[in-house]
Amino acid sequence: MRKFFLVAALSAAAFPALAAAASNVRNFAAAASPAPSAAATVAPSPAASTLAGNAADGKIVFDTNCASCHGANAEGGYGPSIRGIDASIVTYTVRNPSARMGKIPLTDQQLADVAAYVSSLSP
Ligand code: HEC
Repeated sequence: MRKFFLVAALSAAAFPALAAAASNVRNFAAAASPAPSAAATVAPSPAASTLAGNAADGKIVFDTNCASCHGANAEGGYGPSIRGIDASIVTYTVRNPSARMGKIPLTDQQLADVAAYVSSLSP
């Protein structure tokens, strides 16, 4: 009886500390490896690939968000030429950019439009 009481008291005292330690380990693991979770949240949106893109609207999206790196006519600059590149590659790359390109927060419609514009250019 007395021994049982002691064990129960010790467990109660120890458990919060163990729980805190366990959650610190989890938080550390999450902070140490942001890449997999970031990749999971920027998976290509099915909506963007099924939306019809408007190339004229896409030129405006391009001028505002892409021209600074890819050149005024997508001929390349800091980033490579992307003239005539397949729309699905544009969609995939914008949702899964390299570190040098970085994330560009476009709506699915803006992305479909810019993909239509870029893919319409003669290479
Ligand atoms: C900060 C500069 C920057 C901006 C802004 C940027 N890009 Fe890029 N982009 C790059 C770089 C650099 C690469 C090449 C990948 C690398 O070297 O990491 C690239 C690669 C690409 C590729 C892949 C090319 C290939 O041959 O596979 C596509 C497609 C692309 N970008 C489209 C876009 C579109 C569309 C936008 C605008 C919505 C955009 N980028 C905005 C820098 C940029």
